[in-house]
Amino acid sequence: MTMRDKLDLLERRRAESELGGGEARLKTQHEKGKLSARERLELLLDEGSFVELDRFVVHRSTDFGLETQKFYGDGVITGHGKIDGRLVYVFSQDFTVFGGSLSESFAEKIVKIMDLAMRNGAPVIGLNDSGGARIQEGVVSLGGYAEIFLRNTLASGVIPQISAVLGPCAGGAVYSPAITDFTYMVRGTSYMFVTGPNVVKTVTHEDVTMEELGGADAHAEKSGVAHFACDSEPECLQQIRDLFRFIPSNNLGPAPRGPGTDPRNRREESLLDVVPDNANKPYDMHEVITRVVDDGEFYEVQRDYAKNIICGFAHLGGFSVGVVANQPAVLAGVLDISASLKAARFIRFCDAFNIPIVTFEDVPGFLPGTAQEHGGIIKHGAKLLYAYCEATVPKLTVITRKAYGGAYDVMSSKHIRGDFNVAWPTAEIAVMGPKGAVEILFRKEISESNDQAAATEAKIEEYREKFAHPYIAAGRGYLDDIIDPRDTRPALIDALESLQTKRDKNPPKKHGNIPL
Ligand code: HXC
Repeated sequence: MTMRDKLDLLERRRAESELGGGEARLKTQHEKGKLSARERLELLLDEGSFVELDRFVVHRSTDFGLETQKFYGDGVITGHGKIDGRLVYVFSQDFTVFGGSLSESFAEKIVKIMDLAMRNGAPVIGLNDSGGARIQEGVVSLGGYAEIFLRNTLASGVIPQISAVLGPCAGGAVYSPAITDFTYMVRGTSYMFVTGPNVVKTVTHEDVTMEELGGADAHAEKSGVAHFACDSEPECLQQIRDLFRFIPSNNLGPAPRGPGTDPRNRREESLLDVVPDNANKPYDMHEVITRVVDDGEFYEVQRDYAKNIICGFAHLGGFSVGVVANQPAVLAGVLDISASLKAARFIRFCDAFNIPIVTFEDVPGFLPGTAQEHGGIIKHGAKLLYAYCEATVPKLTVITRKAYGGAYDVMSSKHIRGDFNVAWPTAEIAVMGPKGAVEILFRKEISESNDQAAATEAKIEEYREKFAHPYIAAGRGYLDDIIDPRDTRPALIDALESLQTKRDKNPPKKHGNIPL
């Protein structure tokens, strides 16, 4: 064969490798409202930036007639590309080839790009659309999964790992996303479950649909397994691109700066009217966040889960920050099991990737009750405490109103290495709220009084005057200052700037023992 003939053969084989499982299966994929594995990569990556690796890999299986069914690439497209000019490694599972199921060769391709990503300090993005372990390969496929889980774990905290679940993902296909940092799902086409509705019916006799069991909303609202639920695949892939405006490529690199065009000294008059005069009235903490951060842009994480706490990314004076905020508009901003888990994991991501944490605090305490106690609020609340204590990134806290009890300690207080702690004049810092305190301290006195309601009211007023303000904490130096709410943005940006050279570390150890 001449060089030209050989090149023709190469071209034919390359073209064949682009076909996946064939036109009929591709048509079915489109009919389900799903994009193909290649179309997804085109939307995810900067135009023309994708470089494919291992396009000619095939499986080595000889059982169940598989020796006659070989597809170039073996059901997963792997390689690297760019997002906003920054290197990322990607794999995109192709449901048209054996249902995107994972074979030994398929796993080896993913493992190769994970190893390259670690070596080159670049994030990994996995687009998952897979029926799990390739049943015909047996234990070899299980071994392949385990190789991936090991790398997910070793890469955790070194490079960001992002998962999009874009089809029915069962069994092994859900555990890799579960270890990664952020999981995106699409309503109506994405499913994650350890076992599907049929197995559930056999074992627990429950009738449940795919959507109810493991759809995007189920995981974004109830289980907290998904961080984002999107309405379409293009929206999902765009949202992943947007995340990269805030996160660094690895744990040694800087987070990308925002445009920094929002004036750093911008005073926000409207912040004077956010906190209601009545301490028991709710308000939306999003109003505070969006008025303080650059251009009001807030990339919220787990928006639909544990809404009593808000987590997300923003830029502040151009610096990338992670925002954690109690939400007085939901359950009065109380800390419960779900809120603790959500914020703890977010804080650990920020700390691992050197993203400063800005906390807006208005919290009445931990949620009481048997459901919470028996569900383990002590150990789950301790996770949040542990995450804040352990974090060595710059930690900035603004107390807008309530900081009661243990929650005062937990929410990035000065005592657990808060770098910059300020309060608005509306702050109330005490062991508990006035009503609860009075009922405990003056129970006898009040019960002996002729007018119990008036006596209670008088004691509440006395307690409020004594404790429901920030001056005792400021008098101790537990707060660095009490600020005019309008100055919140410039104050935070000044602090962030001064903390750019922060050096702090934890004692050397193999690893801590976070209360799991
Ligand atoms: C091999 C598979 C497959 C699998 C699907 N296919 N799953 N082939 N191994 N695991 C093939 C089908 O035979 C079919 O091939 C094609 O993919 C499309 O599948 P359909 O069933 O037609 O598609 P759909 O109706 O959309 O249903 C998708 C599905 C279903 C819900 C994912 O296929 C399914 O339930 N698959 C099995 C899921 C599962 O139990 N996996 C093992 C989990 S255990 P043709 O040739 O007809 O196109 C596991 C262990 C790891 O993963 C544990 C680690 C912790």
